[in-house]
Amino acid sequence: MGTALVTGATSGIGLELAWQLAAARHHLVLVARTTDRLEKVAHQIRSAAGVDVEVLTADLGSVEGRGVVTDRLRRDARPVGLLVNNAGFGLGQRLVGGDLGREELALEVMVHSVLVLSKVAAEAMVARGHGAILNVSSMAAWTTMGTYAAHKAWVLAFTEGLAGELAGTHVTATALCPGLVRTEFHERAGLDAATWPASAWVDVERVASAALTAVRRGQVVVTPSLRYTAAAVALRHTPRRLVRKVAGAAASGRALR
Ligand SMILES: NC(=O)c1ccc[n+]([C@@H]2O[C@H](COP(=O)([O-])OP(=O)(O)OC[C@H]3O[C@@H](n4cnc5c(N)ncnc54)[C@H](OP(=O)(O)O)[C@@H]3O)[C@@H](O)[C@H]2O)c1
Repeated sequence: MGTALVTGATSGIGLELAWQLAAARHHLVLVARTTDRLEKVAHQIRSAAGVDVEVLTADLGSVEGRGVVTDRLRRDARPVGLLVNNAGFGLGQRLVGGDLGREELALEVMVHSVLVLSKVAAEAMVARGHGAILNVSSMAAWTTMGTYAAHKAWVLAFTEGLAGELAGTHVTATALCPGLVRTEFHERAGLDAATWPASAWVDVERVASAALTAVRRGQVVVTPSLRYTAAAVALRHTPRRLVRKVAGAAASGRALR
């Protein structure tokens, strides 16, 4: 893989992926909006792992921010061999009555950016004859829980389609579908993490390690933890009408009768 570019690398799943990639001797390009956090993480990883770490401050919700990252993906000097589209956030609001700007930003960061960065990276990687793309979806992809679920369903279907298109090119695409992971995600979205039982959470280390194992195997979809793998199978086989009923009840706070 050589150099790995990770978006959303200052916190949570992206940060852990960066550490595990550094431990496996990959050079890194770390992307997020907050320069001081990026510089701090880069310094810690360089000192501990002895790998090269570049930082790119970029808001993936903007054309300019995506341009900064696509310029780096096209560069042939120290080429990016693994792209991780991880940056994202929970909306913490309903569509009706919610802030439209936040909805549009979510679409830009979790869908538009994944499309643009994957396309640019895949073209550069195919031309070089090798590479891998890891797109972070979610267990939510199999539900109907709001626009976040719709964005993550898009990431899952997009990545599966891309993996098919890339067959035979020595470039792979993998979708990571985590369940609940303790990161800054829930606090940033204004969600109360205490409402979920302790058994529902999966360690961020386990999520990152399962994702990187899947990338090395060229696996198309990975759902870390046996419990969530079983839940994903169940969700795929549950009548959609029932999935909608449960999601509707959860969204409205009603108990399902
Ligand atoms: N945690 C979970 O339970 C869970 C479950 C399933 C899927 N996921 C997915 O996992 C991914 C990572 O989430 P996380 O849980 O690790 O959340 P997190 O701890 O809040 O980290 C999010 C990262 O994304 C970056 N980011 C957010 N908006 C950005 C933007 N506009 N441009 C560039 N970077 C941006 C943040 O950095 P800056 O703020 O510095 O930009 C941060 O580094 C997301 O795609 C999320 O949807 C999370």
